[in-house]
Amino acid sequence: MQQMAPEQIALVNELEPVAAGLLEKHLATSKEWFPHELVPWSRGRDFEPGEEWDPNEVDLDPAVRSSLFVNLLTEDNLPYYFRTIESMFGRDSAWGTWVRRWTAEEGRHSIVMRDYLTVTRMLDPVALERARMQQVEGGEVPEPENATDGIVYVTLQELATRIAHHNTGKLIDDKAGYEVMKRVAADENRHHLFYRDLGTAALEINPSAMVLAIERQVRDFEMPGTGIVDFEAHAHAIARVGIYDFSVHHDSVLAPVITRQWEIQDLEGLTPEAEEARTRLFKRMERIARAGRRFDSRRAETKADADAVSDREPEPSLVTAG
Ligand SMILES: [Fe+2]
Ligand SMILES: [Fe+2]
Repeated sequence: MQQMAPEQIALVNELEPVAAGLLEKHLATSKEWFPHELVPWSRGRDFEPGEEWDPNEVDLDPAVRSSLFVNLLTEDNLPYYFRTIESMFGRDSAWGTWVRRWTAEEGRHSIVMRDYLTVTRMLDPVALERARMQQVEGGEVPEPENATDGIVYVTLQELATRIAHHNTGKLIDDKAGYEVMKRVAADENRHHLFYRDLGTAALEINPSAMVLAIERQVRDFEMPGTGIVDFEAHAHAIARVGIYDFSVHHDSVLAPVITRQWEIQDLEGLTPEAEEARTRLFKRMERIARAGRRFDSRRAETKADADAVSDREPEPSLVTAG
């Protein structure tokens, strides 16, 4: 992120008491949990050095493997998310306390997911470790251009991540795996609520700036994971099985936040520029909803006519959402 503009610094300062209140609420409702208690260790065995991973040991849809791979590598990229968020909000006051607490909680996610996936041999540990090295050495994460955009992005992204984790858990077809993903998803939801309520407060302070930021962030939204090896192919697979696709994005992320929580359609007194952005925003949301319906019915047809799958064009994903 570049140097923050003075009005952005003023916004962050004005929101500090709100952040302090939300942090207190977050801590009061947090329940401590331990990764090691969720991992089915007895199902594991040693890997001999040089042993080749055998994908046939676990029967799992490759799209679910894609999702586990992308979701875990995203959690692994935490140092760079931390850097972006700390530079947006600063390291002092309630902001700093929040950012560090959030970091500690996110770290738990990669610990539990990696332990679970290694024990169960669901992913190739060598490919995973090489991809982690590449991902973290690249250090690529979305970098919103200011605090307003950042609040909008993390609000949407935490909710999107919650849904992706939860939907992945449902498709693993293993109770222990479902419990791991459900626990992680519950944390993501609480992160989402922190940012969403911060967004509500920011809307009261500067509705026009927020509407401009929402329009920009919805226009450019990508699921986290840029910089991951073969990210596009994985994202297509994830969309194909409905873990995260246009319908999910519209119905479970954009509409609940933008229309139902933030009630952007009802805001009054926007600047002309923000009014135009709001019109564009709702047009885009409608397009995303239409694309979702189109691909849902195509998926239903594909299911009914499984032989034709190979003739169809690949499912679009949020990576290519225009
Ligand atoms: Fe996480
Ligand atoms: Fe999170």
